[in-house]
Amino acid sequence: MTLDPQLLETKELYGILSTAVAPRPIAFASTVDGAGRVNLSPFSYFNVFSSVPPILVFSPIRRGRDGSAKDTLNNINEIAEVTISVVNFDMVEQTSLASTEYETGVNEFDKAGFTEEASEVVRPPRVKESPVSFECTVDQVIALGDGGGAGNLVVARVVRIHLDEGMLDEDGNLDTVKLDLVARMGGSYYCRATPDNLFEIPKPLRNLGMGVDQLPHHIRNSNILTGNNLGRLGNLEKLPGGDLLKSVGEREEVQQALREGDAALHRLARRYLEQDNSLEALAVLLQGR
Ligand SMILES: Cc1cc2nc3c(=O)[nH]c(=O)nc-3n(C[C@H](O)[C@H](O)[C@H](O)COP(=O)(O)O)c2cc1C
Repeated sequence: MTLDPQLLETKELYGILSTAVAPRPIAFASTVDGAGRVNLSPFSYFNVFSSVPPILVFSPIRRGRDGSAKDTLNNINEIAEVTISVVNFDMVEQTSLASTEYETGVNEFDKAGFTEEASEVVRPPRVKESPVSFECTVDQVIALGDGGGAGNLVVARVVRIHLDEGMLDEDGNLDTVKLDLVARMGGSYYCRATPDNLFEIPKPLRNLGMGVDQLPHHIRNSNILTGNNLGRLGNLEKLPGGDLLKSVGEREEVQQALREGDAALHRLARRYLEQDNSLEALAVLLQGR
């Protein structure tokens, strides 16, 4: 199915974009208006776009029903400062409550039951309950349109970082498991970064992976190996040498698989891959044709 976005209703377009571009991190943004009134709202059109300088961007979109601007955007146009706090599982229900469209001037810290923590450099307070908060000055706001659904990129420069020290590991680094962050998915779905949802992939930058194109034809075209399996194998620097090929080839389970044929060999290699033993998996595969 192929669609032309110009022919879709705003709602359909939003549905596809927000379901497909997911999971999205959540910026819990606090701003103040010219009179100093505090606002707090979550935004999942959000990410980090630069490390040095440290730049975060989020996007309050114009309301679908009438194209009006949200309080967060109006506040930033008055006072170009924002704090962005991250959202973890313990905060997520209150965060959702803070997205309610209360009247302008209503403080969602109070409505959602969060605690204001004074910032050091900027005027908006940050969310005390959040494990990581960023104080930011706003470099620019880029309006992407003036109708309903149009985004406004708030380019926020981080000027202070606040970390809950309980979220650090023994080396002093932020600990992904302790953080327990949540992300926004399509519809009313969220997801949570629990340990059983996390997995690691060896970084390809450490070595120069030979690439899937260097694998012999019968491996690349296997009906048993998955794309993930091939990605792991292509991440190896080179084909295994003669000694390893010989010792792996002598194993009883490899001999047995060889007698049964290619499919058995590929299944055995997949088991090696599942045990993070990619070099030996490739050595198994190379016993075949
Ligand atoms: C998890 C979550 C993520 C959201 N992400 C966005 C977003 O990226 N952009 C947006 O305009 N509204 C988003 N919303 C809706 C706003 O939070 C909502 O419109 C809010 O009332 C705006 O508040 P304000 O008028 O005080 O700025 C999100 C809501 C939730 C619960």
